[in-house]
Amino acid sequence: MNRSRLGLADADSEVRLLSRVIETLSAGLDLDEVVQGVAALITDTTHTDICFVHLLESSGQRLQLRGATPPFDQQVRRIGLSVGEGVAGWVAAHGEPVVITDNKLDDPRYRYIPELRGQDFTSMASVPIVTRPGQLVGVLNVHTRDRREFTTADVELLGSVAGLMAGAIENARLHRHIAEREEAMERFAEQIVQLQETERRRLAGEIHDGISQRIVSLSFHLSAAADAVQTNPALAAQQIAAAQDLASATLEETRLAVAGLRPPVLDDLGLAASLESLARSIPEPSVAVDTVAIQLPEHVETAIYRIAQEALQNVMKHAEAGRSLLRLRTTRHAVVLEVSDDGKGCDAAYATEKAGPVGYGLSGMQQRAELLGARLTVDSAPGRGTRLRLTVPLTPTR
Ligand SMILES: Nc1ncnc2c1ncn2[C@@H]1O[C@H](COP(=O)(O)OP(=O)(O)O)[C@@H](O)[C@H]1O
Ligand SMILES: [Mg+2]
Repeated sequence: MNRSRLGLADADSEVRLLSRVIETLSAGLDLDEVVQGVAALITDTTHTDICFVHLLESSGQRLQLRGATPPFDQQVRRIGLSVGEGVAGWVAAHGEPVVITDNKLDDPRYRYIPELRGQDFTSMASVPIVTRPGQLVGVLNVHTRDRREFTTADVELLGSVAGLMAGAIENARLHRHIAEREEAMERFAEQIVQLQETERRRLAGEIHDGISQRIVSLSFHLSAAADAVQTNPALAAQQIAAAQDLASATLEETRLAVAGLRPPVLDDLGLAASLESLARSIPEPSVAVDTVAIQLPEHVETAIYRIAQEALQNVMKHAEAGRSLLRLRTTRHAVVLEVSDDGKGCDAAYATEKAGPVGYGLSGMQQRAELLGARLTVDSAPGRGTRLRLTVPLTPTR
């Protein structure tokens, strides 16, 4: 047996190794299991002592140790390297394998990481993990205690294993990405249902407490008028006048309840002017307005309007501010709404936490923002005022 070739004597053994790798890779879609499994298999079949798998993070700037044979499996996810740093970083940056037979401390590419106990190992080989289309996903390292010459054929074999892994890693990542999206979609659907529920409850409350009460009194006044119309026309007239007042109040109330769904002012004036009129309706503090005219999809306008409305309510209720500013502007990629005040401020994290039930207040704003794929941030500290910012991407992320 030729010890210099990873202990693999012939093509048959290579085929056996590769087919075991394929088996491990196709066993599951869990990224960590796949990586751990292959690392174990490599040391097992190539007569090396340890194997490390460093995967490239999504930023493309850093590697993270994601697979290692015992005892180094304890270090998984704890060791990070910048691309370019250490041998693995060099391999990631250059896309070429590296073999160091001995004296690795003298190699300028080598970086000593105490947790990985480099002093216990003499020789190493490091190959890039690259997918078919040439995308780097990580770096595979093997180390041996005893001095070992890694031949070109050895490195090629490791490269083949790495190539097989690359596809599986990509698949596992894709799979997780899809699972995460699915979860997000589920949360999203739940939120829509909750928002609708809240809206429905509000409407039901307004119909029950306001509108139907008024219709009951209305019908009471009309009965009284009907009873009095022969005997006491003056009283009848009085009752009819009261009924008329009630009818118009009910109409107004109905209009307001429906306006709760989509503020009619948006259709009449457009978003910018609606925000201005909203700001003017706040009695205290005075709200300065700085807006641009912009046309957005109806549901986006409604959400921005509602968020501005709640933000201004909060300024009025909580801020004790002298001045407030409402801004609507566009950047290249987004529409940005800002409501700021110079009031007493609050602990933003605390405020978000104690935010009321779903559908109202800050949590309601947050939900509306999420439904648009927008970002809502509250920037505040006691004594330093509050700034709420909503960033709605112009090309929707969902
Ligand atoms: N502009 C602001 N200035 C100071 N405190 C604020 C401001 N906006 C929100 N808060 C704080 O955040 C909390 C949560 O707000 P919110 O979710 O709208 O609930 P609510 O207005 O019903 O109290 C408020 O109770 C208040 O303490
Ligand atoms: Mg509030």
